[in-house]
Amino acid sequence: MGHFYFVRHGQTVWNVENKICGAADSPLTEKGHEQAKETGRMLKERIDNGEIHIDQILTSPLSRAYDTAVEISHMTGVPVTVEPRLIEQNFGKWEGTARDGAAFARAKESFADSYGGGESMMRLAQRIYNLMDDLRKEPEKTCLLVAHNGISRMIESYFRDMSNEEFAAFGIKNAEVREYTFEDDRPDDRTDYDLLCQQVTGLMDGMESHITILSNAAALLYEMLPRINWAGFYISHGDELLLGPFQGKTACVRIPYGQGVCGTAAAENRTIAVENVHKFAGHIACDSASQSEIVVPIHKDGRAYGVLDIDSPVLNRFDNADREGLERFVKLLEAEMANE
Ligand code: SME
Repeated sequence: MGHFYFVRHGQTVWNVENKICGAADSPLTEKGHEQAKETGRMLKERIDNGEIHIDQILTSPLSRAYDTAVEISHMTGVPVTVEPRLIEQNFGKWEGTARDGAAFARAKESFADSYGGGESMMRLAQRIYNLMDDLRKEPEKTCLLVAHNGISRMIESYFRDMSNEEFAAFGIKNAEVREYTFEDDRPDDRTDYDLLCQQVTGLMDGMESHITILSNAAALLYEMLPRINWAGFYISHGDELLLGPFQGKTACVRIPYGQGVCGTAAAENRTIAVENVHKFAGHIACDSASQSEIVVPIHKDGRAYGVLDIDSPVLNRFDNADREGLERFVKLLEAEMANE
């Protein structure tokens, strides 16, 4: 499934001065370098533990992006290539003027206007959408794009409908990382999480026993999610997780907090989707067929209750849609179990 990561450059001198910076080459501040290093450190950690994989960094030629890309490359060891199409939009006569000026906001509503010597929104869309189409043609390769706010906005619009107001207001933070997946290229057996949530709600109706709720929830997930080989729960007991209701091959019964994907997700209280479990330091293999995994923490009365764990025999099985869908699913379980 084709996907890529996008990072905006770190803080620049003109960001601090709140000036419009398009084709002008305002350098990173010291803080900007630090932000880039921090993003590089975070990405390296995720690469090392198998959560993500990146083949190549593509960067805008402007120094604020290029230097950000180089910092990330130093940290991660992923090579950098300049991609001229990632250069920021040239804002013509507005370059260097106040960033929050109302006149500039109005000017940007004219999509075919190039601001007196700059680049129009339509021209920008042409080159960025072409780049997106090119990335989509190589689904086996994963790139990290390092570029600008104006570019992030155009990329966002490639992936979803936006009103003019949303488009104008869209922006991301310095050195923030986002992930995009080419939806059409996904297998056409995607899960309908709305339906799944309705089904689990029906199954839980009036049921108080946790074992009963979780047993049917595991069976439902196992039946409804394509390309998985294990679905079930681990429940917190002191500082470890014990095997709960599940479907799939017999599994390890105890996982200490902080160990394996389940123990890490529980200890860090966050959903973890692992692209390749063989690269996850400390992954606990229950079924040798498992290649990727997602773990969602579960809470009861504001405290850790356990985790939902799902394994897949294919690499990179779980994307943002699965993450969001399964987090919604878990919220429903939490709400029902809170009624006990
Ligand atoms: N792989 C998990 C252990 C549980 S089994 O996948 C069912 C982990 O690393 O936590």
